[in-house]
Amino acid sequence: MNSAGTAPNDPPPAPLVERLQAADQSHVLRFWDQLDTEARGRLITQLEAIDFDQLAGLIAGQDDKPDFAALASRATPPPAVRSDGTGAAWNPADARRAGAEAIAAGRVGVVIVAGGQGTRLGFDHPKGMYPIGPLSDRTLFEYFADLLIATQRRYGVSIPLYLMTSPLTHDETLAYWAEHDYLGLGSENVRIFCQGTMPAVDAKTGKLLLASPDSLSLSPDGHGGTVRALSVSGCLDDATSRGIDLLCYIQVDNPLVALCDPDLIGHHLVSGSEMTTQVVRKRYPEEKVGNVVMVDGALRIIEYSDLPEEIAAQRNEAGELRLWAGNIAVHVMNVPFLRRAAASADALPFHRANKATPFIDDQGKLISPDTPNSIKFERFIFDLLPDAENAFVVEAVADRAFAPVKNADGAPYDTPQRAREAIVHLHRDWLRDAGVAVAEGIKVEINPRFAIDVAELKQRLAGTTSIERDHYFAPLQ
Ligand code: UTP
Repeated sequence: MNSAGTAPNDPPPAPLVERLQAADQSHVLRFWDQLDTEARGRLITQLEAIDFDQLAGLIAGQDDKPDFAALASRATPPPAVRSDGTGAAWNPADARRAGAEAIAAGRVGVVIVAGGQGTRLGFDHPKGMYPIGPLSDRTLFEYFADLLIATQRRYGVSIPLYLMTSPLTHDETLAYWAEHDYLGLGSENVRIFCQGTMPAVDAKTGKLLLASPDSLSLSPDGHGGTVRALSVSGCLDDATSRGIDLLCYIQVDNPLVALCDPDLIGHHLVSGSEMTTQVVRKRYPEEKVGNVVMVDGALRIIEYSDLPEEIAAQRNEAGELRLWAGNIAVHVMNVPFLRRAAASADALPFHRANKATPFIDDQGKLISPDTPNSIKFERFIFDLLPDAENAFVVEAVADRAFAPVKNADGAPYDTPQRAREAIVHLHRDWLRDAGVAVAEGIKVEINPRFAIDVAELKQRLAGTTSIERDHYFAPLQ
């Protein structure tokens, strides 16, 4: 007998066979006789993780989209504080103070999601390992680690990092952080946990696709998988045991993000919100960002592809877009709220996407289609918003907060080059605001461990009046 409970001539376990028959998915055991015991074990583990009733519902289309046109017709702008401080019923300075106090009290932890496939970027490693520093070549992981170290120093606390991977990125991410000595954060403060997967099914037949004789075609269950993964990995318990009740959520691909932003955290606290989301003002109606709107008293996101053109184009009396708030996937969430969501299996719906997925045919031959042949199922983190009490919105200025690394250089937008330019641009502004002239065309990059904001930069550079050549302000020892 082996770990799968099978000797070489044994049939597959009877209860599993029954479940597969009931679900009309028995074909996945087609290669059973050719598999060694280890391979059988792998396949059984994957199959036993599947909720076949749920899968049948998804295949049958029970995840069908809501009527977005109807929702959009009732959508109104969200309750928000704008980047100029207007819109809130409280003083923004009080909110900032509350945010800073919460960080200093050790109530805040960070979640970075890094389980995506990064298909569009075309980089052969987890996206967090992508070198993004315009002069330093720091990776995205280093970029955030430096910011966390600087934030911890500023507030005199330790801030745990919960880093989500997927089976696609897990081993390499673990190895990277271990080899780089947890980038200075301390291994006890970095928890790397793996999200779940969902199987892909054939778009025409609803049959599970096999990636190989001993494996289904599995892919990460979307960034919404964070909720369940945080819970089952014990990260929510870890947070609670450290006295943390607020988690700042970011995605690994936006180096401009203001991690642990006291303004964002402060507005979240003062508004009594369970989930607060940072947004940017949309520049034009059809911009490819999710639209953060209110519908029937709940905050929600309507994807750009689901917002009817004429509604997207509506303007208010001041000539601004009426539905102005664009999602940048930066959220603050209460730990008890996440526990509640994790406990309710249906808190997040699955979305279906038609994707080209390689699979093996009946003869075991690998087929790599060029066009979509499969349905994949993903959950989205922002689907938590309608369930959050007093969900709230805080506007950030796009040039200072959002430069996602999505596409390979050469694409028209969201490229590494564009992100590097945005970093240089922001840091040139910081130097100017600190009273230091930067010659035209000069690149600068400021490590937050040199200065975390303009005020600190001013102190560090007292006596410096100009920068004449490219300069990386490296961490102070
Ligand atoms: P995207 O949806 O932009 O996907 O993820 P991606 O993997 O970066 O790139 P493409 O679409 O394959 O080109 C946004 C963020 O959510 C994370 C990603 O790692 C990224 O930080 N994510 C996405 C997960 O952690 N898990 C998922 O299942 C999906």
